[in-house]
Amino acid sequence: GTHTKIASDLLAHYDVHARRLPWRAPPGSNAADPYRVWLSEVMLQQTTVAAVIPYFHAFTDRWPTVDALAGAQDADVMAAWAGLGYYARARNLLACARAVAGDLGGAFPASEERLRALPGIGDYTAAAVAAIAFGQRAVVVDANVERVVARLFAIETPLPAARPEIRAAADRITPDSRAGDFAQAMMDLGATICTPRNPACGICPLRDDCAAFRTADPAAFPVRLAK
Ligand code: ADE
Repeated sequence: GTHTKIASDLLAHYDVHARRLPWRAPPGSNAADPYRVWLSEVMLQQTTVAAVIPYFHAFTDRWPTVDALAGAQDADVMAAWAGLGYYARARNLLACARAVAGDLGGAFPASEERLRALPGIGDYTAAAVAAIAFGQRAVVVDANVERVVARLFAIETPLPAARPEIRAAADRITPDSRAGDFAQAMMDLGATICTPRNPACGICPLRDDCAAFRTADPAAFPVRLAK
């Protein structure tokens, strides 16, 4: 692609600075467990990393595999979920575990399309699991990635109209290999350096690649319609 420098700069930084989160395999390995990746991504929808970590440990200690989770009592899973909120996610979690355990022999599918067919797995989660757990080249765009991309290309179109443009730009910078590490590196960058307010451009590995950095106010991206 035309933007391979962005991916290589970001992956070099990730190799040194990746957050050691409990669902991650070491950078560069393809050994992430699909069950742990899926569970973490469902928990991380609308919940922060810090809040998810203790729940992730509680779930994986008690139900270490998708088959174990599929065999759990509904009430036990709902009780273990208490505090994470958005209880429809917990119901879908159990429905998905039972579909994987019951219909797929306990193996998560590797393709985005087949992942998307499972309960509670939407476009984002399908792309994240395909990339992170299976090493597929998938374009993973959450709110953090959206902000990083809008800044890299100084996208002037306001949200939400900018979404297709942001997605196309994310596609152009996604590398053919290590798409899972790339996605998680973009998330880490958005969470720790390219933050919504007061981004730490001085320590950003993509500063030289970033169109917003060359403007007077990098934090002005993504542009939002005035309320
Ligand atoms: N937010 C959602 N998924 C994430 C991941 N895999 N790593 C860090 N933050 C995330």
